[in-house]
Amino acid sequence: MSQSNLLTVAVVGATGVVGQTMVQVLTERGFPLGELRLLASGRSAGRMVSVAGRTMEVVEATPEAFAGVDIALFSAGGDVSRQLAPQAAARGATVIDNSSAWRMDPSVPLVVSQVNPDDLAGHEGIIANPNCSTMQLAPILMALRDAVGLERVIVDTYQSVSGTGARAMGELEGQIRAHAAGEPKSASVYPHPIAFNAIPEIDVFLDNGYTKEEWKVVAESRKILHLPDLRLSCTAVRIPVFISHSEAIHVETGTPITPDAARALFAAVKGVVVQDDPGEHVYPLASHAAGHDEIFVGRVRQDPSIPDGRGLALWVVSDNVRKGAATNAVEIAEVLVERGWVAASSRRAAPVEAPA
Ligand SMILES: NC(=O)c1ccc[n+]([C@@H]2O[C@H](COP(=O)([O-])OP(=O)(O)OC[C@H]3O[C@@H](n4cnc5c(N)ncnc54)[C@H](OP(=O)(O)O)[C@@H]3O)[C@@H](O)[C@H]2O)c1
Repeated sequence: MSQSNLLTVAVVGATGVVGQTMVQVLTERGFPLGELRLLASGRSAGRMVSVAGRTMEVVEATPEAFAGVDIALFSAGGDVSRQLAPQAAARGATVIDNSSAWRMDPSVPLVVSQVNPDDLAGHEGIIANPNCSTMQLAPILMALRDAVGLERVIVDTYQSVSGTGARAMGELEGQIRAHAAGEPKSASVYPHPIAFNAIPEIDVFLDNGYTKEEWKVVAESRKILHLPDLRLSCTAVRIPVFISHSEAIHVETGTPITPDAARALFAAVKGVVVQDDPGEHVYPLASHAAGHDEIFVGRVRQDPSIPDGRGLALWVVSDNVRKGAATNAVEIAEVLVERGWVAASSRRAAPVEAPA
């Protein structure tokens, strides 16, 4: 790629769990980086970090910091995104935002790279990266939607503490140490100790009794899959795992499907790996998925509680920090580059008409 095709990329939240992984994924995948700007809060401004052997300074995320930026990967929470993403977009940057601030805005594409990349075409400067639990679910549901149709989906999640960020990882570590030392476990990130526990409360409770995390899975899946009436229910549970979310998924399909046929469908989806040999104790595991970009699926079986062979039960695991956040954001950036959609659609040069 020529020098002129190299892009200026800003990472907002560059000192966080997701931001650091975004920087790592950008460099690992050979993204056409000209300049990389590491942005965080004023607290981290001036901090030096190492990126691919180079020492770089973290700069405070201000509106002016986006001058000349082509792509801004945001991962600093909803408040920062609500405030700074429009400022970055107004300066010509295309924002790929990891928070929930813009996901359900009808004018903002919400994209899983292998499911609905075409939705990026009309973006106007802000693109949303889905919630990590939705991310690993959508490619699996896409495969079934396209082959046999979806009638109803029930998802129960087993989510790692890295989904909450660096402080939560520290809290789990501290509680494990306290337990081993016979000391009391203090909790501040979560309402209860997370070590040796399972907490069915992720994000705030809504009036309908679901948590906001559970409702994100419902609403975001409908938007990504273009199925506004999809019948879907979710229970989201935090468990004491550091990295990777696991999901038990029960699907009622429109027409019958066997587990073998479903495995073949899943294996054909880009970025999905089937691991399904229960007799040999082979199935997706959080510890195996951590550090990988793929979505792993196994334990595929017929659900006999649904008549006519239209029920499937399965187990899906993926690294929530990589595919669930950083990798998908970088994959979106790659699609924008490949298709010439880095700029907002209203700023793109009109396609040249072929002579009649
Ligand atoms: N972890 C996941 O699996 C996951 C998945 C999907 C989406 N997300 C979303 O990604 C975001 C970050 O998550 P995380 O896990 O990386 O959290 P984290 O480890 O707590 O990091 C938060 C980052 O945000 C920065 N930040 C905080 N306030 C800021 C401000 N006012 N201006 C600029 N930067 C600010 C922090 O910078 P300082 O170091 O200066 O404080 C830090 O770099 C959240 O919106 C989260 O919901 C996370």
